[in-house]
Amino acid sequence: MAEPAVHRVPGRGRFITFEGGEGSGKSTQIKTLAERLNAAKLRTLVTREPGGSPGAEIIRHLVLSGMGKLLGPDAETLLFAAARDDHVRTVIEPALARGTWVLCDRFSDSTRAYQGRLGQVTPAFLDAMQRVTIGDLKPDLTLILDVPVEVGMKRAAIRRGAGAPDRFESEDLKFHQDLREAYRQIAADDPQRCVLIDANADPATVAAAVWASLRERFFKANVGSMANLA
Ligand code: TYD
Repeated sequence: MAEPAVHRVPGRGRFITFEGGEGSGKSTQIKTLAERLNAAKLRTLVTREPGGSPGAEIIRHLVLSGMGKLLGPDAETLLFAAARDDHVRTVIEPALARGTWVLCDRFSDSTRAYQGRLGQVTPAFLDAMQRVTIGDLKPDLTLILDVPVEVGMKRAAIRRGAGAPDRFESEDLKFHQDLREAYRQIAADDPQRCVLIDANADPATVAAAVWASLRERFFKANVGSMANLA
């Protein structure tokens, strides 16, 4: 189980999550942001869910193979929760405590969107899972990359090439439309934490929007001391 989160002790890193549907461009944007933070001399760790720790990567393999689907939505949610528990405890919390900025490709909003909205797992079940896996740990910022479904699916197909679609890529168009809606709702419900980014643009334009969100949240009050980040 996750230790209670350490809050805002001086020097603690920031926890930034990226969310979005298939082909929304998360990995490209995370890479660009990590390079930018590293250039600004901020220690940065890029990680992902499901996965990110040795134990969680094993569960990732199970889930994306479609094995979780056979067990039903609640049990599949438990698999994501088990992976998250390990990832938070062994990778994310220790990194934040060391002062590292953690950029995570998907986190608990993916469970809300995919298992909650689409798999119809109840909010009470999801809340219980969230309590045991992440406790009070909340991203400092969540960037939700929003892209029309047709655009995202086309990008995902190009990336996949001749490979077979995974567990979720193979769902139908309606699933992906509902997914987009679910994410837009999450952004609307928690504007303090979430920023909806228009990702239907070239990577440099999207990266500029991502950077503007970070400046707004983290660097605005420190313009003097962090002038190199402007
Ligand atoms: P991945 O190949 O990492 O997809 P992407 O490039 O779109 O991020 O596969 C992860 C899949 O797992 C993705 O389709 C979303 C899904 N998922 C959930 O359903 N619930 C979760 O809690 C998480 C973290 C991911």
